[in-house]
Amino acid sequence: MSQIANTAKASGFASSLLAWYDQHARKLPWREDRDPYRVWVSEMMLQQTRVAAVLEHYRRFLNKFPTVSKLAAARESSVLAAWSGLGYYRRARMLHAAAKLVVKEYQGKFPRASEGLRHLPGIGRYTAAAIASIAYDEPVAVVDGNVERVLERMSGKRLTGEQTWNTANNLLDSPRSGDFNQAMMELGATICLPRQPQCLLCPVSGFCAARGELQAEAARPRQKKRKIFFGLARRNGHVFLVQRGKTESLMPGMWELPQLPSRARAKRLLSLRHSITVTDYQVNVMEIATPQKGSGRWMSRSRLASLPLTGLARKILQRAELL
Ligand code: ADE
Repeated sequence: MSQIANTAKASGFASSLLAWYDQHARKLPWREDRDPYRVWVSEMMLQQTRVAAVLEHYRRFLNKFPTVSKLAAARESSVLAAWSGLGYYRRARMLHAAAKLVVKEYQGKFPRASEGLRHLPGIGRYTAAAIASIAYDEPVAVVDGNVERVLERMSGKRLTGEQTWNTANNLLDSPRSGDFNQAMMELGATICLPRQPQCLLCPVSGFCAARGELQAEAARPRQKKRKIFFGLARRNGHVFLVQRGKTESLMPGMWELPQLPSRARAKRLLSLRHSITVTDYQVNVMEIATPQKGSGRWMSRSRLASLPLTGLARKILQRAELL
């Protein structure tokens, strides 16, 4: 066991952390009960998306698919529609595939241990541990980006992947595994911040080697800026949309506005910013009368909400007050 974990365990790291969590945890909808299905949906959504962006989608998704059997029985297009705006749609497809498997192979009941959960599509070490600890209090620690930062600062040095998991597991010294894990993530998200850690407010600063001194990672390279153009054609309460190819690696089969090679001579209706990973797009939406050649369809405005739209298409249609 690492030195830090040994000392911390002996002197009540987990109990200090949990006492803080009990007072300061954010009230988040997935903390309202311990249904493994609901925990799983929240963890899948939170994997690459910030809490604030997940909140609205989480409620909407669970209203539409309140149980694993409802999700399993849904059409893929309606699962993707409910996921629209969260990005990384592979997660939605995995969720759907895993729901079908749970219904077919496990009589609709989730495996009750992290080992079993890992056999489901899209559930790796992190998600299995998160579900098993939060839903069943199985004593397994989780490590996400936030937890890794907390552990490295506590230890006062960089840790390898395996060292972070070991340290986290050694610190987990409470029967409340789910709360412990959520408290570690909460600490990273609200106190042990990447750039300006709030050490004075930290319930476990007494266990910390760095107290904010460990340098944050080098700043990420700046995002590239790019301009892109989409055409918005409207006719009799309909909007012209095109469907992405079924074999595209990104967002296959989803609907979007036709992209234009340049601004052409069209009138600009609106422009908005759309930022994904390394690129910051200035998205220009141009008024077009007739869509260019190729496949596409006039969609009635009343159908838009139930279509699997790309996140950007949804944003544009909302901004244009068509959705
Ligand atoms: N990030 C991912 N899952 C989380 C959770 N349950 N609580 C806080 N942050 C999280």
